Amino acid sequence: MKAPWNIEALLWATATALVARDVDPLPHQPCTGDYCYDISPLEPRFFPSLEPQRLQIKYGPFTTPPTHEHNGHHKTYFRTNPPCYDCYLTAVKADLQYPNGTTANTNTGLWLHHVVITNLVQSSITCPEGAEIIFASGNERTEVKISLDGTVPAGYYINPHDLLLLFPELMNTAHVPQDAIIVIDYEFVPLSDLSVEAGFKKVTPVWLDVDGPCSPNAGAIPVPAGVVGEKFTLEMEPKWKSDISGDVLFVMGHVRDGATGLEVVRSSSDGAGIEGGETVCNGEVRYGEEEGDVDIAGEDHGHGRGDGGDVDGGHGGRLEKRRFWRSRGKGKGKGKGHDDDHDDHDDEEEEVPTSPRRQGVHVSSISTCTLPGRIEKGEEWTVRANYDFAKHAPMVHGGELAPVMGMSLMYVVEDGQ
Ligand SMILES: *[C@@H]1O[C@H](CO)[C@@H](O)[C@H](O)[C@H]1NC(C)=O
Repeated sequence: MKAPWNIEALLWATATALVARDVDPLPHQPCTGDYCYDISPLEPRFFPSLEPQRLQIKYGPFTTPPTHEHNGHHKTYFRTNPPCYDCYLTAVKADLQYPNGTTANTNTGLWLHHVVITNLVQSSITCPEGAEIIFASGNERTEVKISLDGTVPAGYYINPHDLLLLFPELMNTAHVPQDAIIVIDYEFVPLSDLSVEAGFKKVTPVWLDVDGPCSPNAGAIPVPAGVVGEKFTLEMEPKWKSDISGDVLFVMGHVRDGATGLEVVRSSSDGAGIEGGETVCNGEVRYGEEEGDVDIAGEDHGHGRGDGGDVDGGHGGRLEKRRFWRSRGKGKGKGKGHDDDHDDHDDEEEEVPTSPRRQGVHVSSISTCTLPGRIEKGEEWTVRANYDFAKHAPMVHGGELAPVMGMSLMYVVEDGQ
């Protein structure tokens, strides 16, 4: 899908996501830059004897356009200081709120489409020429529990000169502009004699993305042409060859509406092991668990209508598009032949009857994995996103299928730490 309004941002993002070792310093405080809105301390939950802190930092406000302009999207990027220096981030979570502090979600027409946080001063282990992605969240708002709720003394270490770059993308399905604030909850333990004594370790974030680990656009890619049966798998190719070894602490994933699961897959270096790899973590995608994740389909309650409307494949007109798209020739997703295992009969059919599915129901959570095992040097790792549009309605923008995503962030304690 062409989105000319976003090309400039894309180019900028590509250029600036490069590791910047001599960045201009910002004033040495966490609430910096044009977008810092508010900062407030919260009660820390983990490692009570290590002088932990927890800060809620609000960024914004961001004005999202009405749904008929740019499909209601607002995409930006900005530099800001980290919440602390010489400290270990032990948990991070993102939320979306209105300026008055109430939660904004799909039922009120606002999506935290995604927000990605990179450390501009450190390079990514999977994309060495790119900045290190340290956190990512979609509208499901998964908490990244790096220290496993305080049970493992480990966190993402922030150096004295580190600088963050945030990439938020918000979406509005209302007919009027809406303002929103991104709220990030950072919990951390300072580097001190206490944390040294407790054996605190640094984690390495490992970013895997079906669009490749250096994808500049947070991995949003078009639905592969010629997908038959509405079921397809996207896989990161080539796989990433690990040059680290250690223990995987925590794995999170992000996908878009229509997905059923996100697998992180390991293949051993010597070609032994399971053909096609071994699934280390299978993120299970759940829909509509809470009221906030459901918007009423087919009913014009102030949003979701018009050519920029989102989602709700059940709205008139759109079905035609979908049928057109479905009947386009044969083929598969990028993930070669993964659906062969369980999808053969779908591939034979020209027109697949759409099974009943609830409209306006969105991804509400993706399960995470804790301590799924080790990573070894020389292994090949990849990520697979499994989609089934017959089961869960995909996102639709302006009558076209919206791009899809599949990405995972793992936190690893490398050996010798
Ligand atoms: C907060 O703001 C939103 C958006 O303007 C509004 O819909 C909601 O009613 C407000 N809530 C309160 C408690 O003021």
